[in-house]
Amino acid sequence: MAILIFAFLFLLSFSSPSEGGGSVAVNYGRIANDLPQPAQVVELLKAQGINKVKLFDADSTVLTALANSGVSVVVALPNELLSSAAATDGSFSEKWVQTNIAQYHPSTQIEAIAVGNEVFVDPNNTTQFLVPAMNNVYKSLVKHNLSSIKISSPVALSALNSSYPPSAGVFKPELIETVMKPMLEFLRKTSSYLMVNAYPFFAYSANSDVISLDYALFRAVNANVTDPGNGLSYSSLFEAQLDAVYAAMSNIQYNDVPVVVTETGWPSKGDENEIGASTDNAAAYNGNLIKRVLTGGGTPLRPNEPLNVYLFALFNENQKTGPTSERNYGLFYPNKEKVYNIPLTMEALKATGSTPINGSKVQVTSPPTASEEVTTAAVGQTWCVANGEAGAEKLQAGLDYACGEGGADCRPIQEGSTCYNPNTLEAHASYAFNSYYQKNTRGAGTCNFGGAAHVVTQTPKFGNCEFPTGY
Ligand SMILES: *[C@@H]1O[C@H](CO)[C@@H](O)[C@H](O)[C@H]1NC(C)=O
Ligand SMILES: *[C@@H]1O[C@H](CO)[C@@H](O)[C@H](O)[C@H]1NC(C)=O
Ligand SMILES: *[C@@H]1O[C@H](CO)[C@@H](O)[C@H](O)[C@H]1NC(C)=O
Ligand SMILES: *[C@@H]1O[C@H](CO)[C@@H](O)[C@H](O)[C@H]1NC(C)=O
Ligand SMILES: *[C@@H]1O[C@H](CO)[C@@H](O)[C@H](O)[C@H]1NC(C)=O
Ligand SMILES: *[C@@H]1O[C@H](CO)[C@@H](O)[C@H](O)[C@H]1NC(C)=O
Repeated sequence: MAILIFAFLFLLSFSSPSEGGGSVAVNYGRIANDLPQPAQVVELLKAQGINKVKLFDADSTVLTALANSGVSVVVALPNELLSSAAATDGSFSEKWVQTNIAQYHPSTQIEAIAVGNEVFVDPNNTTQFLVPAMNNVYKSLVKHNLSSIKISSPVALSALNSSYPPSAGVFKPELIETVMKPMLEFLRKTSSYLMVNAYPFFAYSANSDVISLDYALFRAVNANVTDPGNGLSYSSLFEAQLDAVYAAMSNIQYNDVPVVVTETGWPSKGDENEIGASTDNAAAYNGNLIKRVLTGGGTPLRPNEPLNVYLFALFNENQKTGPTSERNYGLFYPNKEKVYNIPLTMEALKATGSTPINGSKVQVTSPPTASEEVTTAAVGQTWCVANGEAGAEKLQAGLDYACGEGGADCRPIQEGSTCYNPNTLEAHASYAFNSYYQKNTRGAGTCNFGGAAHVVTQTPKFGNCEFPTGY
């Protein structure tokens, strides 16, 4: 018992925010015709320990699926609606808030509204509508007593006239008086934050002759880049990009407005000319970024502001247009399998050691104590599922044991049976692990399999397969 309690406290100490770490969230883009149903996606998010997502719209099936899930959401008012939302009588934005926000919050925990997306580069020239639309949406939120929901608008790095060196960061002159100052004033007044989309991949890909890949992938150990403007030392391109934004804000006296990175990512595949796009590089970028965010601290210019990021994206999206990379930013394939194996949570991260993740060399094992947390907490009904991060070898070994000596009922995962689909190692191992766990009356240590399994408190969902709850 002492060991269990110790393990429980040990886990708690890693998940507490007292370490000053930021948050890792994910963009749930849906420009695809092969994605799982929103309810299944919510289960996937929960199983992966992801508790914040961002949408590119305010889709009702998604917002309904997120209700009471513990996953909070940033919703979007798309660019196409900006001119209507900016109309002076405010009736459109009032109706929009009513239908898309008030209807769902707080069962669906809406954290913020992204009004437009990368509006300054919208070919339809909607920039003039942005701040009026933000003001109208804010008035409607206040009217509905929902002003705790933040309003902002994701800005692309192309809003900067220059970003190198970081200390020389300034906004494009034509944006400063027209939109940046009024928007930052609005953000300050409403205690909100600036949303920024930052992709070191683009900078690297276009300048791979002068930017080192290790610097772009957070693994430039002992190869920092010094900013000649202020002498600050940078270990990653991501932080340099963010500081260019901070410098630009500072330049127009908005240094006090926080920043959240609403998109960043790296493609696992690209066209021949998209230098740097690869699975190993994507794993290294996202894995090391997550590590950087969760272990705390800010950038050289704002060392005390935690980094909060939304990875782009949850899934590969097969209907996105543009170069190959556009369809290959996902952490997951549409069948919910991982594109690559990286730690997504503090617990998983603790198992990776201190050296930077270098692509395919990444080794992740889940903590052996994950099951004890729930057992000790003595909550209601529980199930056991496979740990996606454990890797194929561990999952297979656990599956073999459970179905063999372990005596789990593995008939339903045989070809032609009810739980054969989805035919993935993670789904089959989950079924077998849960069977073993239930047969052993959910005893302490019976959901472990060398760290390849963990206990969950929601019914696991894999296709139409029903997971038994006891024998
Ligand atoms: C531009 O506006 C037109 C008309 O409203 C619309 O059909 C089109 O989809 C818009 N294009 C973009 C890129 O938003
Ligand atoms: C975009 O709008 C601005 C301000 O209304 C205007 O000056 C500019 O000509 C427009 N550009 C295009 C391409 O329509
Ligand atoms: C608005 O919210 C506050 C607390 O957040 C509450 O006291 C008040 O009753 C609410 N008003 C309405 C009209 O719901
Ligand atoms: C914007 O950048 C260009 C070079 O890219 C530079 O010549 C110009 O002075 C810059 N403008 C401002 C306002 O910083
Ligand atoms: C590299 O930069 C980081 C902060 O960006 C700093 O903590 C670290 O000490 C620097 N390393 C060297 C060797 O200068
Ligand atoms: C990461 O791996 C690549 C290729 O395997 C290698 O070229 C590079 O030097 C490695 N970087 C570090 C920091 O280990």
